[in-house]
Amino acid sequence: MQSNERAVMRVLNGEKLERPPIWMMRQAGRYLPEYRAERAKSPNFLDFCYNTDLATEVTLQPIRRYGFDAAILFSDIFVVPDALGYPVRFEEGRGPVLEPLSNEVVGRLDQAKVEGHLEPVIATVKRLRAELPDETTLLGFCGAPWTVACYSVAGHTTQDQTAARIGSYSDPALLQAFIDELVEASISYLVNQIDAGADALQIFDTWAGVLDDIGFKLWCLEPTRKVVAGVKALRPDAKIIGFPKASSSRLELYVRETGVDAVGLDWTVPAEVAQKIQQIVPVQGNMDPMRLVAGGTALEEGIDYCLDIFSKGPHIFNLGHGVVPQTSPEHVAQMVKRVKGL
Ligand code: CP3
Repeated sequence: MQSNERAVMRVLNGEKLERPPIWMMRQAGRYLPEYRAERAKSPNFLDFCYNTDLATEVTLQPIRRYGFDAAILFSDIFVVPDALGYPVRFEEGRGPVLEPLSNEVVGRLDQAKVEGHLEPVIATVKRLRAELPDETTLLGFCGAPWTVACYSVAGHTTQDQTAARIGSYSDPALLQAFIDELVEASISYLVNQIDAGADALQIFDTWAGVLDDIGFKLWCLEPTRKVVAGVKALRPDAKIIGFPKASSSRLELYVRETGVDAVGLDWTVPAEVAQKIQQIVPVQGNMDPMRLVAGGTALEEGIDYCLDIFSKGPHIFNLGHGVVPQTSPEHVAQMVKRVKGL
């Protein structure tokens, strides 16, 4: 099968399909018992990401169980700063812990180490393309520079990225220096994913929505535009999905300024805005993941609403953000069936 015949790729190429293809952000994850079993084999989360056998296995799990139309490479956004030599680790029950951003730590980053460090992830992409069903699209990804930088400035997960916003105002030169390093490393990482067999790429900008107008331009649009342009300069056919979360009112600007081929929508994007965007580029989304936790009529209503509002153009069914650990695997099966009209 030619990669452009895969359902997700057809939509990314602008086709509207009778039934939208479906995949789910964070589809390989803790809501699945088979994921938890593999995860237990590698207590260190980053080691888990760099273990080609384990990462391949957990990427395939949701494809086997549900027959999703796309597999997303199992990895994390923090493998890029880790590859640059930025101190990062995962703590049980706490999530990522990073050394707070400083001129000293940025000065120590080394682009020359990135490719070699990320080789096991690229090996996973190759294995996946060989092992996935022919009709399944393989998605690669990276974190958008701003979202990666948010965790670096704060050193850990926060609710509204107060520390990162203050840092962006008080020392923009430091943030810019780090963002520039992330842009360069992300371009080479994404190009290597394409060369290893990824059909398309997604850039996760989970924290785009906390920025003001000036910040959005500097820290979301500009770095994303550079990553997209950098990848496309080397691989002109690469398809890129942008996901600027909580950026409803700036989606059109985002699409216009960054050059992404498609855009992921979170669940707060109003239908009128979503439909307007869908006339410009294919869209992906956007059911609230909490409907998937609730199940029942709330789930059915959410699915049908999404199918209805996006029925006039190219659409990939997805959640508005990642599936959460307390989700019942049975609800996911019900969602896939309903989206496929079974
Ligand atoms: O299935 C997939 O979607 C592919 C794998 C994937 C993971 N993280 C695995 C993961 C992807 C695409 C990501 C992206 C990611 N990672 C983002 C952007 C998207 C989003 O969800 O907002 C961000 C911000 C991160 C950073 C991150 N990784 C945090 C804050 C945490 C800790 C919180 C949490 O959910 O545990 C992680 C860990 C992580 N990444 C897990 C998984 C499955 C859970 C870790 C575990 O198994 O213990």
